[in-house]
Amino acid sequence: MLLEASGLTKSFGGVTAIADLDFGVPEGLVYAVIGPNGAGKTTLFNIISGIYRPDEGRLNFAGQDLIGRATHRIARLGMSRTFQNLQIFFNMSVLENVMVGCHARARTGLAGALLRLPRMRREEEEIRQWAGEALDFCDLGGLKDRQASELPYGALKRLEIARALAARPRLLLMDEPAAGLNDTETLEMRGLIGRIRDQGITILLVEHNMGLVMRVSDRILVLDYGSRLAEGTPAEVRANPRVVAAYLGGEVHYAVE
Ligand SMILES: Nc1ncnc2c1ncn2[C@@H]1O[C@H](COP(=O)(O)OP(=O)(O)O)[C@@H](O)[C@H]1O
Ligand SMILES: [Mg+2]
Repeated sequence: MLLEASGLTKSFGGVTAIADLDFGVPEGLVYAVIGPNGAGKTTLFNIISGIYRPDEGRLNFAGQDLIGRATHRIARLGMSRTFQNLQIFFNMSVLENVMVGCHARARTGLAGALLRLPRMRREEEEIRQWAGEALDFCDLGGLKDRQASELPYGALKRLEIARALAARPRLLLMDEPAAGLNDTETLEMRGLIGRIRDQGITILLVEHNMGLVMRVSDRILVLDYGSRLAEGTPAEVRANPRVVAAYLGGEVHYAVE
């Protein structure tokens, strides 16, 4: 398992957001986490990326214990993420927004790069190149010199992904990449997720659009009040009576294209 959790628990005051949760993400797969609002999905991402420390439990990534590690150290182990609420620097160019992502991984860091010492200048060039490649990969190459504030919403979602990819992650955490997208953009997002996976990058995906989740995921973890309601392939999860009763209900249907 690339990422493995056992007994994870996190409470906020009286609310238990994550409750004694176990799961494992095999390398190279798209692994989705679904569940109704408030099920604990974002909290789980915040624990994995080091923003929150769990009250209890173990968390292992690529053989390293993650508990108590700072976010930038976790990032350096090869994990990047995108946010449910976009975290874009609107006054910076598209390219600069992505270069910020590379600095999370680079040796000298942003401060060093600003001093422009020779080794750092070389690194800066490397970073510019990775950033350009990540933008091309996300179909944003033509917009790299535009100010981020000029981009439509769908492009901003891809910009966040480009920034996360520029750090060359082994695991990419995506929090609701299709939220707010129209049908065409959602289809593009599905294609992009598939292409990222084809690069060998493991994806942990939180997403409400069930059509997208069912088609793009290899395995799905269903959360209910922070606990594991079900886990398995999309077919297994869809057929699970507990999932149908608690979450999918009778209303969800999967359009065939
Ligand atoms: N920082 C926080 N402070 C207090 N309560 C929180 C905080 N973050 C999440 N919660 C609570 O934890 C539960 C899970 O929230 P969240 O992880 O955001 O769910 P989801 O992303 O699945 O919608 C909710 O009841 C939410 O109100
Ligand atoms: Mg959330």
